[in-house]
Amino acid sequence: MIILDGKKTSQDLRNEIAEEVSKITTKGYRPPHLAAILVGNNGASITYVNAKIKACEEVGFKSTLVRLSDTVSQDELLEEVEKLNQDESVDGFIVQLPLPVHIREQKVITAIDPRKDVDGFHPQNLGRMALGMTAFAPATPSGIIELLDRYNIETGGKHCVVLGRSHIVGMPMSLLMSRNAYPGNATVTVCHSHTRNLDSILRSADIIIAAVGRPNFVTGDMVKDGVVIVDVGITRIVDTEKKSGYRLVGDVDFDSVAPKAAFITPVPGGVGPMTIVSLLKNTLIAARLRVRKTSK
Ligand code: GUN
Repeated sequence: MIILDGKKTSQDLRNEIAEEVSKITTKGYRPPHLAAILVGNNGASITYVNAKIKACEEVGFKSTLVRLSDTVSQDELLEEVEKLNQDESVDGFIVQLPLPVHIREQKVITAIDPRKDVDGFHPQNLGRMALGMTAFAPATPSGIIELLDRYNIETGGKHCVVLGRSHIVGMPMSLLMSRNAYPGNATVTVCHSHTRNLDSILRSADIIIAAVGRPNFVTGDMVKDGVVIVDVGITRIVDTEKKSGYRLVGDVDFDSVAPKAAFITPVPGGVGPMTIVSLLKNTLIAARLRVRKTSK
């Protein structure tokens, strides 16, 4: 069994991005600039956004955090989105999800300028990606593709089972795994809450990408020997023995599944760090596509 080490792979990628940034700034251009809008005080969202900001600093990007109260109206949030759309100094930005229930997420995502939509959630980017056109692809599926690529994992003709059909992970992941490219060319089954015979589908999987947000959902008895496991789940479970008061648990029961797996991502240290580095990659691309003369 080989661990798909997202922490190390993402560090390699961050080093590559940092080198690119230093080339850009040496030429007299300003560094790429990522902005993030964070609404409210959801603990997990604060952690994720802080990790994104920290990653920006590490590679030499500029970053800006816009924090809004959870009582912000949809119109006020749309105004903030428009400000970032118009801000020439911002190359890309994200609106951290989930948003409070009084705000329609799709309305906000659709208001983002697709050229600055480095999360790849805008219908234009998702549609272009589905058609195999150049587009910002969502960060988590892109990060998983990068991880499979860097470990030379065979995907062509394999049965890939994607657990979950979210717009952020499951749906785009299934499109990328079935596209005519490497990694891709897999025969993809998407499973969700209405799926019947889940156990037998999982047992026939060569690759399982689990993104349902249910701790330890996939157990050893559900998978075949030699399976490749990508665990996207990161649920916080209360753990008084931890300094933070919680621990992170994946969708896959690592202890029972790992002995049967050929490759497996750990939680944490698997998919999470790859997601962040993909966001940096998209921001670098967005910056390259813009005129970036420094104002010095
Ligand atoms: N919430 C969970 N994952 C993500 C992500 O990749 N981007 C944003 N904006 N919000 C999220």
